Amino acid sequence: MKKTSWLIPCFLVLFSVSSFAQQNDKGKMNLFINNLMNKMTLDEKIGQLNLPGSGDIVTGQAKSSDIGKKIKDGQVGGLFNIKGVEKIKEVQRVAVEESRLKIPLLFGMDVIHGYETTFPIPLALSCVWDMNMIQQTARIAAIEASASGINWTFSPMVDICRDPRWGRISEGSGEDAYLGSQIAAAMVKGYQGDYSLNSNILACVKHFALYGAAEAGRDYNTTDMSRVRMYNDYFPPYKAAVDAGVGSVMASFNEVDGIPATGNKFLMTDVLRKQWGFKGFVVTDYTGINEMIDHGMGNLQQVSALALNAGIDMDMVGEGFLTTLKKSLQQGKITVAQINNACRLILEAKYKLGLFDNPYKYCDVERSKTDVYTNAHRKFARDVAAESFVLLKNKDGVLPLKKSGKIALIGPLANTKENMAGTWSVATILKNCISVKEGLEDAIGNRAQILYAKGSNIAADSNLEKRGTLFGREINRDNRSEKEMIDEALSVASQSDVIIAALGEASEMSGESSSRSHIDIPHTQRKLLEALVKTGKPVVLVLFTGRPLTLPWEDKNVPAILNVWFGGSETGYAIADVLFGDVNPSGKLSTTFPQNIGQVPLYYNHKNTGRPLGDGKWFEKFRSNYLDVSNDPLYPFGYGLSYSNFEYSDVSVSSKKLKGNQTLTATVTVTNTSKVVGKEVVQLYIRDMVGSITRPVKELKGFKKITIKAGESKQVSFQIKPADLKFYNYNLKFDWEPGDFNIMIGSNSRDVKSVMINWVK
Ligand code: BGC
Repeated sequence: MKKTSWLIPCFLVLFSVSSFAQQNDKGKMNLFINNLMNKMTLDEKIGQLNLPGSGDIVTGQAKSSDIGKKIKDGQVGGLFNIKGVEKIKEVQRVAVEESRLKIPLLFGMDVIHGYETTFPIPLALSCVWDMNMIQQTARIAAIEASASGINWTFSPMVDICRDPRWGRISEGSGEDAYLGSQIAAAMVKGYQGDYSLNSNILACVKHFALYGAAEAGRDYNTTDMSRVRMYNDYFPPYKAAVDAGVGSVMASFNEVDGIPATGNKFLMTDVLRKQWGFKGFVVTDYTGINEMIDHGMGNLQQVSALALNAGIDMDMVGEGFLTTLKKSLQQGKITVAQINNACRLILEAKYKLGLFDNPYKYCDVERSKTDVYTNAHRKFARDVAAESFVLLKNKDGVLPLKKSGKIALIGPLANTKENMAGTWSVATILKNCISVKEGLEDAIGNRAQILYAKGSNIAADSNLEKRGTLFGREINRDNRSEKEMIDEALSVASQSDVIIAALGEASEMSGESSSRSHIDIPHTQRKLLEALVKTGKPVVLVLFTGRPLTLPWEDKNVPAILNVWFGGSETGYAIADVLFGDVNPSGKLSTTFPQNIGQVPLYYNHKNTGRPLGDGKWFEKFRSNYLDVSNDPLYPFGYGLSYSNFEYSDVSVSSKKLKGNQTLTATVTVTNTSKVVGKEVVQLYIRDMVGSITRPVKELKGFKKITIKAGESKQVSFQIKPADLKFYNYNLKFDWEPGDFNIMIGSNSRDVKSVMINWVK
């Protein structure tokens, strides 16, 4: 490889400016890009709009071909799914040495929850409720990805989801727009920073829009909802990412209002650009343009023109732009100004990243050796994983466990590395992940003994596990009969003082194209769990899952349940930290856990209806309820236990009557009545009692995560301003309306103390 040859191309020499000026001077950027675009042919401009996949990592069905030749011919703007800094450097060399105009490429990847150092899946991360920590995960992901040649990540994924059947609920931040918005902004900042460092990479908020509202939780399915719901409940996290300066947006696969997002001008132009002022570029999802043929929007030429007209700038994999835009231009279906605009936005992104200044900015082979999977990154991953776990039940203080005696470790998820990282961990080295068994053994040394048995396969039907598998993960099935495996587990359990059952979903049972119509622990594992509970020994269920599961039996019969989601590369260590009490659990759910699948969609910020059921009731005729299950969730949004106990005082407010732009201060005192220091997420909810449109029974409006020592009391105050009361009304005007508001503070969305106030304009 010729090391300095990128310095040679004359336009680079002529127009290269210091990276400081590149970041700060829009005029210079425009001049640079104008000059470059003046030299570009129409074909080269269309080439910039093309994003093939390299095939190193497979994240979709279609394949790109002849990529090397296309790069030389100026027909590629970026490449994704390519792994390895040396390889990326070589491809970049081809682009900047062998193509006519020597324009550098974007290199994209799904760096979703970490790179080689892998953090918990995003749904788990959202249970941490600590924006600094979440931002730091994105920062570390960007450091590692950028050291490996990647300058663009397809993250954050911010789709609100109220339906746990949808496998991709694992990739987002749960059901709440407020929490989701905070996380979206934190992630964008963590990835992109101000573009000044060679470890700041371009972020891409996805999937715009409403992808998480797929009917029946079936991936890629239709969505349809009122504008009022869109703007209030689903749009805010995308907007928060835009407000935080996200450089790119990915269109979703689904339709919105009868038009696929990829061809939807209302979304891509009216909302995104005109209403929110987005200045970056929009990329389709994988073959999103081509899929509009199946949606029934026309042939490839028609749907490609539809996408460009809607406001799409870059075409992922499908090559509809590459192969049809010229013809559409000749036929007057699109304009040259539209192609110029899309091309300009993509070149601007490259400029902001500093690629024209140094196309190898992200190809520092030395950094790839020193900055990836470092001890410091792994330590942080371990800490953040432990903070993401949610203690769902802990009867009679079964947890924490002592590091002594005999511990039976049983279950198909107890001794596996493949299943620790979770879905969308394309850069994870699976064999590096720490299994539960390894984590526990490391923690106890020779003070205690671990007795292991697999106990069951993940599911009796191997297809459940196999079908969703995206990244060719191994599925280690045990060929013994169900009975043989349970018998072995029981014999191991009989020798122990306590049983840890590591059960739940396999890693790939959530994620893309992994929807489920039943969301319980697979039957074969439930049978094992029932047998373990029957022994009468204390059982701790360590639950792996990428979505809320239905666990009424487990909640009733198993003394302790620690939900560990998929915790990333350091999972096993983090689980041991929490099980043995070296870390006190503090995770709080960002999604409701229903009692059964028939309650779905079930979410805390629902409407009251005209026939609400009274609090604490199950059924009343002519009320909004079910004959066979109460309206309550099994575990509500915001819920999560600790080894500490926290008691809340009543809420006191600075005033019960407010006017105009005043600020309300609402305060509680939280006391740790236990003997151990702990972290608590104090949550503020507000209900707008009367509105010009119906308002939710409560909405999260603030939270504070605090550490409280044993026996200590802490005052926690929230400052509330009229801006916090705003919502989109029937005319989609964002404003607040005077009247009564119920101010609620508590430990989760169900257990709150409240006070009523009145606020006039
Ligand atoms: C997914 C996106 C992802 C893309 C590229 C698609 O199938 O929906 O989330 O970024 O593939 O891998």
